[in-house]
Amino acid sequence: MSNYHIKNLEEYFQIYRKSVQNPEAFWEEIAEEHFVWRKRWNSVLSWDFSKPEVKWFEGGQLNITENCIDRHLTTRGDKTALLFEPNDPAESAQHITYMELYRQVNKMANVLKAQGVKKGDRVCIYLPMIPELSYAVLACARIGAVHSVVFAGFSATALATRINDCDAAIVLTADGSFRGSKSIDLKGIVDKALEECPQVTSVLVAQRTSSNIDMKAERDHFMAPLLEAASDECAAEVMDAEDPLFILYTSGSTGKPKGMVHSCAGYMIYAAYTFKNIFQYQEEDVYWCTADIGWITGHSYIVYGPLANGATTLMFEGVPSYPDFGRFWEIVEKHKVNQFYTAPTAIRALAKENISFVEKYDLSSLKVLGTVGEPINEEAWHWYNNNIGKKESPIVDTWWQTETGGIMISPIPYSTPTKPTFATLPFIGIQPALMDEKGEEIKENQVDGRLCIKFPWPSMARTIWGDHERYRQTYFSAYENSYFTGDGASRDAVGYYRITGRVDDVIIVSGHNLGTAPIEDAINEHQGVAESAIVGYPHDIKGNALFGYVILKDEAAKRNPDEMRVEINRLISDKIGPIAKLDIITFVPGLPKTRSGKIMRRILRKIAQKDVSNLGDTSTLLNPEVVASIRDIVGV
Ligand code: PRX
Repeated sequence: MSNYHIKNLEEYFQIYRKSVQNPEAFWEEIAEEHFVWRKRWNSVLSWDFSKPEVKWFEGGQLNITENCIDRHLTTRGDKTALLFEPNDPAESAQHITYMELYRQVNKMANVLKAQGVKKGDRVCIYLPMIPELSYAVLACARIGAVHSVVFAGFSATALATRINDCDAAIVLTADGSFRGSKSIDLKGIVDKALEECPQVTSVLVAQRTSSNIDMKAERDHFMAPLLEAASDECAAEVMDAEDPLFILYTSGSTGKPKGMVHSCAGYMIYAAYTFKNIFQYQEEDVYWCTADIGWITGHSYIVYGPLANGATTLMFEGVPSYPDFGRFWEIVEKHKVNQFYTAPTAIRALAKENISFVEKYDLSSLKVLGTVGEPINEEAWHWYNNNIGKKESPIVDTWWQTETGGIMISPIPYSTPTKPTFATLPFIGIQPALMDEKGEEIKENQVDGRLCIKFPWPSMARTIWGDHERYRQTYFSAYENSYFTGDGASRDAVGYYRITGRVDDVIIVSGHNLGTAPIEDAINEHQGVAESAIVGYPHDIKGNALFGYVILKDEAAKRNPDEMRVEINRLISDKIGPIAKLDIITFVPGLPKTRSGKIMRRILRKIAQKDVSNLGDTSTLLNPEVVASIRDIVGV
């Protein structure tokens, strides 16, 4: 039995047991037998959740790109590493081999070096889903620069905040991006962002849309000629296991995004090991994850995890609805995709369309279907299972987070019996716990609680960039000696986990994490707004949609309410991005507050969900009368 490849349920249980009985010995064996190192580690793990401090493979040295690219060249040099499917189906797909990937990454690495980028420097990457994005990520890793990829749907203000938070002096972007029938002026967004980022001295621009853009002398350079002229050999920087590999921002319950820092060795090992088992990848398979590399799913399961296993990983530039709702299935047929990994929101959107969009295509290549990012409802699960998997491809409902770096709770396909809406069992090495209201662990089954993880795993984020105290506060202060996920979960009679959703002020809309605070901050910047509160409510396709309660100042209250709504949503788009726009904006005279001045979101949530059967005790409110007027306005 190989511990690296789990083949049945019995092996899962055996390996799981080993991994929790002696985690050091277990991970040491995986690290030793399946990865290339420049220097062996001195100790496998040291940890203290009270600080918090976690170190894996301390003293070890390596470069992740040697594991993801170089070591495959002898046996897989001609194998497709990246399979690029463009937005426009009439444009040819690109099969980028491991050898070609090696050359392109090294060229990009040399270009970065020539721009003065050194080990430890932060590089902001704001690129669409084109091959240059993967090259850029890997080129940073090659030279030990810390990449910070910002999803190319974020606004100029959001981009500027992220560039400044990690003090990046260089930004990689494109002239524009294609998304379905639209194109987006990325360079214009970058230019606007950089008005707030005086330290940025260099911008490299990939050409994708050939649109007219401004190029600022000295600062801006087109990538292509620099790449063309650069050498395709670049020695990999030798990195310490615990050196930072990347920063990736995620929403928090305060206005400022949290720059989660992932380190080199532990992240690599866990991303690779989970990829191999949760997708049961075999040498000839074509694997496709539909996420954007701007999110953690893309980092771990488009780039690093697949490449560390020598896989063929498909990168799709477009959207599921272009040129029509059959696009995903057309791509599955065209490239004979074997593993397909997407989000519940996409499944729900496609399930609403005519089934002929699915039936037109041959999906018989599929072996494993994955879902991630939010709870999958039963109806969507069955649609996916019946129509896409034809009841033959198991669905892996994978629960994890930006902070966890890799999948934490998931079935192993063909081993773990699946159960709709359940992420099922912890992955190897993961020790979940459910906590009760008092902060005690609930040991029995058939319970609900707050989901924590009791023991370190290799790919956990090590800190929040520039704010270790916030890291401690957010994740390690709620429960002693445990990492708190922010999610609620239940456990059934056999120990399967079902994630029920966030228990903090984060709302997941179409699989995107949105903090209420940054949205409220954006709204409150409107001159006519006195105060606001955002809550989520269930939505057929998005999972959750945003409901805003807004108190207007006197003058603004006299204006046309629809105009105000448009202006408020425009502000949100400018400050954060279109993904954070509100579906419903209701103007109210006040917000229910506790005597200490805290907004009672629970009540606002119930009203937005049109479920006022149990509003709880409102007598403790400072202004209980406001609840009745809000209910009147909303009509519940
Ligand atoms: O609430 C959980 C939800 O997404 C959150 C993490 O979001 P993010 O950091 O953006 O990472 C998303 C991709 C890994 C979690 O705290 N979530 C993620 N996967 C699932 C899920 N909720 C239910 N079921 C899942 N499979």
